Amino acid sequence: MDEMMNAIKARHSVRAYLDKPLSEEHIGRLRMMTEEYSRESGLSFQLILDEPKAFDCRMAHYGKFSNVKNYIAIIGKKTSENEEKCGYYGEKLVLNAQLMGLNTCWVASTYKTIPEVLDVQKGEKLIIVIAVGYGESKGAQHKSKELKAVSKQTEKLPKWYQNGVEAALLAPTAINQQKFKFSLNDDGTVSVKTGFGPCIKIDLGIVKLHFEIGSGRGRQLVWNN
Ligand SMILES: Cc1cc2nc3c(=O)[nH]c(=O)nc-3n(C[C@H](O)[C@H](O)[C@H](O)COP(=O)(O)O)c2cc1C
Repeated sequence: MDEMMNAIKARHSVRAYLDKPLSEEHIGRLRMMTEEYSRESGLSFQLILDEPKAFDCRMAHYGKFSNVKNYIAIIGKKTSENEEKCGYYGEKLVLNAQLMGLNTCWVASTYKTIPEVLDVQKGEKLIIVIAVGYGESKGAQHKSKELKAVSKQTEKLPKWYQNGVEAALLAPTAINQQKFKFSLNDDGTVSVKTGFGPCIKIDLGIVKLHFEIGSGRGRQLVWNN
């Protein structure tokens, strides 16, 4: 858990990468993760290597992406349950990639779909991609809301809950919207509600993972949503 907390603190979105292919070791480990998370989530995590076209478009240049040639495509039926899973398992991959010395960026809109490199079955859609590679820099800390803006209770909080919310505030969210609100219920369970905004269910999965790691309770934590 501590290791994952280090990854949470060190991770920032990186959009500019070195023109350097991924090492065989990194490819092998990313492949293992995509297989594991596909199995666990029921989504299809596909590692796309040496494919420069997705991030060679007006939107990507405008978004300041450079040298993105490797990415993970997450494919599945576009239900809100799947979008939450996409966030949860995708962020597991992001944090493990960070621990391996890689940089990442979740990308929902500023890229172009390249159908010929993807395996999309009937009824499925490309939900989102995660750019991966060796960053030109480590990225920068995002501006963040304060705990009181994202937690119903603000005083006399148990340490584990406070740590959970703080880890959630370090999470990537679409356009850094941070539209979530946690509450600690009388029975010790935790709820988290989202507002409206792009990719909000993906954000939800991401912040739940961060909360689980930050609180130190992992999957023992009981969500009451
Ligand atoms: C679901 C999701 C979708 C995102 N889509 C894009 C995108 O299309 N283009 C982009 O440049 N960044 C995208 N981002 C990255 C966010 O802008 C970034 O996570 C946020 O500004 C916080 O910064 P940080 O990741 O460095 O902490 C996305 C992030 C998430 C979680």
